[in-house]
Amino acid sequence: MTAEANPISIYQIRNLLLDRESQGVSFRLAVPSLQIRQGEKIALIGESGCGKSTLLDILAFIAQPTESDGFLFHPEELDVGVHIDYHWRKRNLNQLGDLRKKHIGYVMQTGGLLPYLNVRDNMNLSRHVLHQEDDGSVEQLAMQLGIARHLNKLPETLSTGERQRVAIGRALAHNPSIVIADEPTASVDPFAAEKIMSLFISLAEARNITVIVASHAWQHVNKLGLRRLSHHTQRSSDGRTTETIVNG
Ligand SMILES: Nc1ncnc2c1ncn2[C@@H]1O[C@H](COP(=O)(O)OP(=O)(O)OP(=O)(O)O)[C@@H](O)[C@H]1O
Ligand SMILES: [Mg+2]
Repeated sequence: MTAEANPISIYQIRNLLLDRESQGVSFRLAVPSLQIRQGEKIALIGESGCGKSTLLDILAFIAQPTESDGFLFHPEELDVGVHIDYHWRKRNLNQLGDLRKKHIGYVMQTGGLLPYLNVRDNMNLSRHVLHQEDDGSVEQLAMQLGIARHLNKLPETLSTGERQRVAIGRALAHNPSIVIADEPTASVDPFAAEKIMSLFISLAEARNITVIVASHAWQHVNKLGLRRLSHHTQRSSDGRTTETIVNG
Protein backbone atom coordinates (compact mmCIF):
# COMPACT_ATOMS: atom_id res chain seq x y z
CA MET A 1 0.00 0.00 0.00
CA THR A 2 1.29 3.45 -0.84
CA ALA A 3 0.62 7.05 0.08
CA GLU A 4 0.95 10.49 -1.47
CA ALA A 5 4.49 11.65 -2.07
CA ASN A 6 6.00 13.59 0.80
CA PRO A 7 9.18 15.40 -0.17
CA ILE A 8 10.15 16.17 3.40
CA SER A 9 10.34 13.19 5.72
CA ILE A 10 11.89 9.77 5.29
CA TYR A 11 10.12 8.71 8.51
CA GLN A 12 6.80 10.04 9.73
CA ILE A 13 5.49 8.39 12.86
CA ARG A 14 2.40 9.22 14.91
CA ASN A 15 1.30 7.76 18.24
CA LEU A 16 3.36 4.60 18.10
CA LEU A 17 3.56 2.21 21.05
CA LEU A 18 5.59 -0.89 21.70
CA ASP A 19 4.73 -2.88 24.82
CA ARG A 20 6.79 -5.71 26.27
CA GLU A 21 6.06 -7.85 29.26
CA SER A 22 8.28 -10.55 30.61
CA GLN A 23 8.20 -12.19 34.03
CA GLY A 24 6.17 -9.42 35.64
CA VAL A 25 8.42 -6.67 34.29
CA SER A 26 6.93 -4.38 31.67
CA PHE A 27 8.46 -1.97 29.25
CA ARG A 28 6.70 0.58 27.06
CA LEU A 29 8.18 2.73 24.33
CA ALA A 30 5.90 5.56 23.23
CA VAL A 31 6.57 7.76 20.22
CA PRO A 32 3.85 10.44 20.03
CA SER A 33 5.45 12.12 17.02
CA LEU A 34 8.67 11.58 15.08
CA GLN A 35 9.75 13.08 11.75
CA ILE A 36 13.15 12.44 10.21
CA ARG A 37 14.17 14.15 6.98
CA GLN A 38 16.37 12.58 4.29
CA GLY A 39 20.01 13.38 5.02
CA GLU A 40 19.45 14.24 8.67
CA LYS A 41 21.94 12.96 11.25
CA ILE A 42 20.16 11.94 14.43
CA ALA A 43 21.48 10.87 17.82
CA LEU A 44 19.53 8.87 20.36
CA ILE A 45 21.18 9.09 23.73
CA GLY A 46 20.01 7.51 26.93
CA GLU A 47 20.82 5.13 29.74
CA SER A 48 20.94 1.36 29.39
CA GLY A 49 17.52 -0.23 29.05
CA CYS A 50 15.67 2.96 28.08
CA GLY A 51 14.75 1.54 24.67
CA LYS A 52 17.34 2.81 22.18
CA SER A 53 17.84 -0.53 20.42
CA THR A 54 14.09 -1.09 20.47
CA LEU A 55 13.44 2.18 18.65
CA LEU A 56 16.18 1.43 16.12
CA ASP A 57 14.65 -2.01 15.53
CA ILE A 58 11.28 -0.35 14.92
CA LEU A 59 12.87 2.06 12.42
CA ALA A 60 14.54 -0.89 10.65
CA PHE A 61 11.22 -2.85 10.48
CA ILE A 62 12.67 -5.56 12.72
CA ALA A 63 10.46 -4.96 15.78
CA GLN A 64 6.72 -4.74 15.31
CA PRO A 65 5.02 -1.88 17.15
CA THR A 66 2.07 -2.92 19.30
CA GLU A 67 0.06 -0.11 17.73
CA SER A 68 0.45 3.13 15.79
CA ASP A 69 -1.71 5.79 14.16
CA GLY A 70 0.74 6.14 11.28
CA PHE A 71 4.18 4.91 10.25
CA LEU A 72 5.12 6.25 6.84
CA PHE A 73 8.49 5.45 5.30
CA HIS A 74 9.49 7.49 2.28
CA PRO A 75 13.10 7.34 1.08
CA GLU A 76 13.98 9.74 -1.76
CA GLU A 77 14.25 7.06 -4.43
CA LEU A 78 10.64 5.91 -3.98
CA ASP A 79 7.94 7.94 -5.75
CA VAL A 80 5.48 7.33 -2.95
CA GLY A 81 5.78 6.54 0.72
CA VAL A 82 5.16 3.09 2.19
CA HIS A 83 2.79 2.49 5.09
CA ILE A 84 4.90 0.28 7.33
CA ASP A 85 1.99 -0.12 9.79
CA TYR A 86 -0.13 -1.63 6.99
CA HIS A 87 2.60 -4.19 6.16
CA TRP A 88 2.94 -5.18 9.82
CA ARG A 89 -0.83 -5.59 10.15
CA LYS A 90 -0.87 -7.80 7.05
CA ARG A 91 2.27 -9.65 8.23
CA ASN A 92 3.97 -8.85 4.89
CA LEU A 93 7.34 -9.84 6.31
CA ASN A 94 8.92 -10.39 2.89
CA GLN A 95 8.05 -6.85 1.77
CA LEU A 96 9.40 -5.44 5.04
CA GLY A 97 12.58 -7.49 4.59
CA ASP A 98 13.02 -6.27 1.01
CA LEU A 99 12.57 -2.64 2.06
CA ARG A 100 15.13 -3.14 4.81
CA LYS A 101 17.70 -4.77 2.51
CA LYS A 102 17.41 -2.11 -0.15
CA HIS A 103 17.12 1.10 1.84
CA ILE A 104 18.71 0.47 5.23
CA GLY A 105 22.21 -0.27 6.45
CA TYR A 106 22.42 -1.53 10.05
CA VAL A 107 25.46 -1.42 12.28
CA MET A 108 24.57 -3.79 15.09
CA GLN A 109 25.36 -3.31 18.77
CA THR A 110 27.07 -6.69 18.76
CA GLY A 111 29.06 -6.09 15.56
CA GLY A 112 27.34 -8.74 13.49
CA LEU A 113 30.16 -9.56 11.08
CA LEU A 114 30.09 -13.08 9.69
CA PRO A 115 33.15 -14.84 11.15
CA TYR A 116 33.73 -17.15 8.17
CA LEU A 117 33.76 -14.34 5.57
CA ASN A 118 36.77 -12.11 5.04
CA VAL A 119 36.48 -8.34 5.34
CA ARG A 120 35.85 -7.85 1.61
CA ASP A 121 33.04 -10.42 1.54
CA ASN A 122 31.52 -9.05 4.74
CA MET A 123 31.50 -5.57 3.24
CA ASN A 124 30.07 -6.93 -0.02
CA LEU A 125 27.26 -8.84 1.64
CA SER A 126 24.46 -6.30 1.20
CA ARG A 127 25.60 -5.45 -2.35
CA HIS A 128 25.63 -9.14 -3.17
CA VAL A 129 22.09 -9.68 -1.88
CA LEU A 130 20.92 -6.78 -4.10
CA HIS A 131 22.86 -8.15 -7.13
CA GLN A 132 24.90 -4.96 -7.34
CA GLU A 133 27.94 -5.24 -9.59
CA ASP A 134 31.48 -5.26 -8.29
CA ASP A 135 32.47 -1.70 -9.21
CA GLY A 136 35.46 -1.21 -6.91
CA SER A 137 33.41 0.89 -4.47
CA VAL A 138 34.00 -1.54 -1.59
CA GLU A 139 37.77 -1.23 -2.01
CA GLN A 140 37.43 2.55 -2.12
CA LEU A 141 35.26 2.57 0.98
CA ALA A 142 37.77 0.31 2.76
CA MET A 143 40.49 2.79 1.86
CA GLN A 144 38.47 5.70 3.24
CA LEU A 145 37.88 3.73 6.44
CA GLY A 146 41.57 2.85 6.75
CA ILE A 147 41.01 -0.91 6.53
CA ALA A 148 42.09 -1.59 2.92
CA ARG A 149 45.05 -3.68 4.08
CA HIS A 150 42.70 -6.01 5.94
CA LEU A 151 40.36 -6.81 3.04
CA ASN A 152 41.48 -10.45 2.77
CA LYS A 153 41.50 -11.14 6.51
CA LEU A 154 38.88 -12.77 8.70
CA PRO A 155 37.19 -10.53 11.31
CA GLU A 156 38.70 -12.48 14.24
CA THR A 157 42.17 -11.29 13.22
CA LEU A 158 41.20 -7.60 13.52
CA SER A 159 41.11 -5.26 16.48
CA THR A 160 37.73 -4.18 17.88
CA GLY A 161 38.00 -0.74 16.30
CA GLU A 162 38.92 -2.24 12.93
CA ARG A 163 35.94 -4.58 13.14
CA GLN A 164 33.68 -1.64 13.89
CA ARG A 165 34.97 0.15 10.82
CA VAL A 166 34.24 -2.97 8.74
CA ALA A 167 30.70 -3.04 10.16
CA ILE A 168 30.25 0.64 9.25
CA GLY A 169 31.66 -0.06 5.76
CA ARG A 170 29.27 -2.94 5.30
CA ALA A 171 26.30 -0.74 6.27
CA LEU A 172 27.33 1.94 3.75
CA ALA A 173 28.46 -0.28 0.87
CA HIS A 174 25.14 -0.73 -0.92
CA ASN A 175 24.38 3.00 -0.79
CA PRO A 176 21.28 2.79 1.39
CA SER A 177 19.11 5.84 2.14
CA ILE A 178 19.60 5.33 5.86
CA VAL A 179 22.22 3.88 8.13
CA ILE A 180 21.05 2.88 11.57
CA ALA A 181 23.90 2.38 14.02
CA ASP A 182 23.47 0.88 17.47
CA GLU A 183 26.38 2.00 19.63
CA PRO A 184 28.86 1.56 16.79
CA THR A 185 31.79 2.63 18.93
CA ALA A 186 30.80 1.18 22.31
CA SER A 187 33.82 -1.05 22.74
CA VAL A 188 36.71 1.24 21.81
CA ASP A 189 38.41 3.96 23.81
CA PRO A 190 36.90 7.48 23.66
CA PHE A 191 39.63 8.80 21.36
CA ALA A 192 39.14 6.00 18.81
CA ALA A 193 35.37 6.31 19.22
CA GLU A 194 35.44 9.98 18.27
CA LYS A 195 37.65 9.27 15.25
CA ILE A 196 35.50 6.39 13.96
CA MET A 197 32.30 8.34 14.59
CA SER A 198 33.41 11.43 12.71
CA LEU A 199 34.67 9.28 9.83
CA PHE A 200 31.30 7.52 9.72
CA ILE A 201 29.35 10.79 9.76
CA SER A 202 31.51 12.40 7.06
CA LEU A 203 31.16 9.36 4.75
CA ALA A 204 27.38 9.41 5.28
CA GLU A 205 27.29 13.18 4.74
CA ALA A 206 29.10 12.86 1.40
CA ARG A 207 26.48 10.34 0.24
CA ASN A 208 23.44 12.23 1.63
CA ILE A 209 22.67 9.20 3.78
CA THR A 210 20.34 9.66 6.73
CA VAL A 211 22.01 8.51 9.95
CA ILE A 212 20.35 7.42 13.17
CA VAL A 213 22.81 6.48 15.86
CA ALA A 214 22.23 5.29 19.43
CA SER A 215 24.67 5.75 22.24
CA HIS A 216 24.88 5.47 26.02
CA ALA A 217 26.74 8.64 26.67
CA TRP A 218 28.36 10.47 23.92
CA GLN A 219 30.21 13.75 24.06
CA HIS A 220 30.66 14.33 20.36
CA VAL A 221 27.04 14.83 19.34
CA ASN A 222 27.11 18.61 19.22
CA LYS A 223 30.56 18.68 17.70
CA LEU A 224 29.44 16.47 14.82
CA GLY A 225 26.24 18.47 14.35
CA LEU A 226 23.78 15.66 15.09
CA ARG A 227 20.20 16.37 16.06
CA ARG A 228 19.48 14.82 19.41
CA LEU A 229 16.10 13.15 19.88
CA SER A 230 14.52 14.06 23.16
CA HIS A 231 13.36 11.27 25.37
CA HIS A 232 11.98 10.88 28.84
CA THR A 233 12.19 7.66 30.86
CA GLN A 234 10.08 6.89 33.91
CA ARG A 235 10.58 3.86 36.17
CA SER A 236 8.16 2.79 38.84
CA SER A 237 9.63 2.75 42.35
CA ASP A 238 9.56 -1.08 42.45
CA GLY A 239 11.40 -1.16 39.09
CA ARG A 240 8.67 -3.29 37.52
CA THR A 241 7.58 -0.84 34.85
CA THR A 242 9.63 1.36 32.59
CA GLU A 243 8.18 3.80 30.11
CA THR A 244 10.18 5.85 27.64
CA ILE A 245 8.62 8.62 25.57
CA VAL A 246 10.52 9.76 22.49
CA ASN A 247 9.65 12.84 20.45
CA GLY A 248 11.43 14.52 17.63
N1 LIG B 1 14.03 -9.68 23.66
C1 LIG B 1 13.56 -9.05 24.73
N2 LIG B 1 12.62 -9.61 25.50
C2 LIG B 1 12.13 -8.99 26.58
N3 LIG B 1 12.53 -7.76 26.97
C3 LIG B 1 13.48 -7.17 26.25
C4 LIG B 1 14.05 -7.77 25.09
N4 LIG B 1 14.98 -6.92 24.58
C5 LIG B 1 14.96 -5.83 25.39
N5 LIG B 1 14.07 -5.99 26.38
C6 LIG B 1 13.75 -5.00 27.42
O1 LIG B 1 13.26 -3.83 26.75
C7 LIG B 1 13.79 -2.65 27.34
C8 LIG B 1 14.50 -1.81 26.30
O2 LIG B 1 15.64 -2.51 25.85
P1 LIG B 1 16.64 -1.93 24.78
O3 LIG B 1 17.50 -3.05 24.37
O4 LIG B 1 15.87 -1.22 23.73
O5 LIG B 1 17.46 -0.83 25.63
P2 LIG B 1 18.74 0.02 25.24
O6 LIG B 1 18.39 1.46 25.53
O7 LIG B 1 19.16 -0.30 23.86
O8 LIG B 1 19.82 -0.46 26.28
P3 LIG B 1 21.42 -0.61 26.12
O9 LIG B 1 21.97 0.79 26.22
O10 LIG B 1 21.80 -1.45 27.30
O11 LIG B 1 21.72 -1.26 24.81
C9 LIG B 1 14.68 -3.09 28.48
O12 LIG B 1 13.94 -2.94 29.65
C10 LIG B 1 14.97 -4.55 28.19
O13 LIG B 1 15.13 -5.27 29.38
MG1 LIG C 1 20.85 -1.20 23.07
